[in-house]
Amino acid sequence: MAVSIDLSGKCALVTGGSQGIGRGCGEWLARAGAAVALVARNGKNLEEAAQGIRKGGGRAEALAADLTEPGRTEWAAEETVRRLGGLDFLVNVAGTARRSDPAETTDDDIDLSINLKVRAAVRLVRAAVPHMKARGGGSIIFILGLAHLQTSVWHGSGCMSNGMLVPYKHQLARRVAPWHIRVNAVNPGVTETPRMSLQERRIAEMTGKSVDDVARERLASIPLGRFGQVDDVAKLVLFLCSDLAGHITGESIAVDGGETNAVR
Ligand SMILES: NC(=O)c1ccc[n+]([C@@H]2O[C@H](COP(=O)([O-])OP(=O)(O)OC[C@H]3O[C@@H](n4cnc5c(N)ncnc54)[C@H](OP(=O)(O)O)[C@@H]3O)[C@@H](O)[C@H]2O)c1
Repeated sequence: MAVSIDLSGKCALVTGGSQGIGRGCGEWLARAGAAVALVARNGKNLEEAAQGIRKGGGRAEALAADLTEPGRTEWAAEETVRRLGGLDFLVNVAGTARRSDPAETTDDDIDLSINLKVRAAVRLVRAAVPHMKARGGGSIIFILGLAHLQTSVWHGSGCMSNGMLVPYKHQLARRVAPWHIRVNAVNPGVTETPRMSLQERRIAEMTGKSVDDVARERLASIPLGRFGQVDDVAKLVLFLCSDLAGHITGESIAVDGGETNAVR
């Protein structure tokens, strides 16, 4: 018998769903039959992403919200349940493209990173868990990165927020396991999304190197010899939401072409 993933009847909330990794996660979950609520600030981009899913025969809702604003996370969770009928999967993707020199990290860098990646994600967890309990289970995923696993001198604020979520994810996994809610983190390496060129320009500014040299060096650090694609990350998220991953919780999994140079 062929193996397939069928998420029909399941409902997902994906933050950062208008572009890049979040959009890819929404598309792959919808392809497997899940109804998807996408969240981001720019309503036009978000509606385009949702339309793309609908054209492919999937169900998608666009929920425009700045997740750093008080009340918007709760609204997004409640609106997901109201429009889709439940909440089984929470995929926390939204993040910023900001890079900061650790020696020059500003309060604003820290606030933005922590307000979006940590505070909003934890608020969404708080709002989503009761619905998952009511549905008999669920899957929560945090998209982090490599900055908390290996040294990179450009992740002054990003490594802080990622690092905060690693122990939290573990604690949460143990706490909600009795309700069959699984909690995992995904650590993408350099992945080709709209923010990649922004980051390369920022690193080039900080180092005085050309953008081409920055890109060449980043590519050379990936043993599998290519940058990650959105689909590489989204397929792992799909797997982690599915019953195929039914005994996996509290884990962190990298999708980085072998880039992480630490034994984990
Ligand atoms: N791409 C990579 O190489 C890479 C590597 C490691 C980790 N990651 C992580 O993966 C995640 C996604 O990365 P990406 O490259 O796909 O990013 P991206 O292309 O910049 O997309 C970011 C998404 O987050 C949304 N967003 C940003 N601020 C928001 C806010 N305040 N409220 C609600 N939504 C907000 C954006 O839409 P709006 O601007 O319209 O709000 C967009 O949908 C990030 O958390 C990033 O740290 C990425």
